[in-house]
Amino acid sequence: MEAATKVQVASWPPGSFDSSADRVTNPTSIPSSFSAYGEPYSWSGREALGPFSGLSSLNNNVHAANSDTTQLAAAASWLFGMEPETYLGILLRGAPDGPLRYDPAGQRRPSEVLNAADPTPGAPGLNSYAVLPTYPATNYMTDNGLFASVPGEAANHANNAMSAFQNLLRPPQVGADPERVRQGRAVFERAGCAGCHSGPALTNHRVIPAADIGTEPTRAKAGAKMEARLAAPGMFATDTPFPLPTDPKLVPLPIPEDKLPQLLLAWGQGGTEGGYKVPNLVGLAWSAPYLHDSGVAVGPDAQKDLGLPGTLEKGVSPDPANSLRALIDRRIRDRIVAANEGSEKARTARATGKGHGYWADEPAGFTEADQRVLITYLLSIDRLTEDLPTP
Ligand code: HEC
Repeated sequence: MEAATKVQVASWPPGSFDSSADRVTNPTSIPSSFSAYGEPYSWSGREALGPFSGLSSLNNNVHAANSDTTQLAAAASWLFGMEPETYLGILLRGAPDGPLRYDPAGQRRPSEVLNAADPTPGAPGLNSYAVLPTYPATNYMTDNGLFASVPGEAANHANNAMSAFQNLLRPPQVGADPERVRQGRAVFERAGCAGCHSGPALTNHRVIPAADIGTEPTRAKAGAKMEARLAAPGMFATDTPFPLPTDPKLVPLPIPEDKLPQLLLAWGQGGTEGGYKVPNLVGLAWSAPYLHDSGVAVGPDAQKDLGLPGTLEKGVSPDPANSLRALIDRRIRDRIVAANEGSEKARTARATGKGHGYWADEPAGFTEADQRVLITYLLSIDRLTEDLPTP
């Protein structure tokens, strides 16, 4: 099993990771850290509730769910169809030699090994958490009812502090020729891009059904099984001390009725197949390869360095301009998709580079000169479109 797992993990394109608890290998590119006005957060857009319009929810899930696989034991029955002890046994058998290593021939059950070595005894998992009474049920603010918290600070404080910091981050200035940028913006509008990529960070904050956007579909459903144990969205009041008092104040996070369909789509629940949110476009010069699956990648040699096998798999960094050209030109994109299909690693990672069929190419009535200024414009986006206060 360990050997089989390594094949899956080693398939992830560099700069991607998969911490979704769905037993499907479908890593996503590390999302943009230029987060201001980029809500809802994550590629699916499922982090949409609570402080900083969902950014604290994203930050919390990194530490309270993704980086602590031991906390998943409580949900193993409905997420993995597995006994919690079996799940923990698989996990801890591979722990580094030491107090957390489970020995199948030994006397102790996996949970006993974990409890004996746990730096936070009596609380779930290994990290330090404020625990909602609804743990381990998912609520749309936290995957499992846990909030990563530091003793001596308010519950969930570090996640909120990180959100405030992150919303201040701006990419380095690009310094493109303003006339070419203006021409490129006109092409962007003529090609219909601004229908979705609008607003201060060039996202309209919408989640688009996976079938409509046409990109790799499996990742959009990563949260589907969590529907089996849902609790009403809620969190601790932001001034709740940690460790928690005996009667901590809980704050419900009501979902406005008009927000519910988008939230269900983002989580792949409510009978939907899931979707991907319209990402913001700030800092594109720094975020190649493109799309959630990292599949749109072209290296410095636009003829030879095609797709993931032509770039990251052989240690070649994708070139932002060449990769963006492959995003908007279907003839180039077809070659990228074919190159990815020819790579066993990319197939294992489900990195296809398919979909998002919004073209600014010859069949759509655009010239190469149009493409060049459009790409100049896209790479020039190094700030919010208006001078706005930090959210
Ligand atoms: C119907 C809405 C919609 C339209 C129209 C649209 N986009 Fe997108 N765009 C999206 C979505 C959704 C994604 C994320 C898809 C995914 O990763 O699976 C995306 C992703 C992108 C990305 C990748 C961002 C990244 O960080 O990887 C770029 C660049 C982009 N779009 C530019 C454009 C351009 C240029 C146009 C016009 C030619 C355009 N988009 C038209 C919805 C749209």
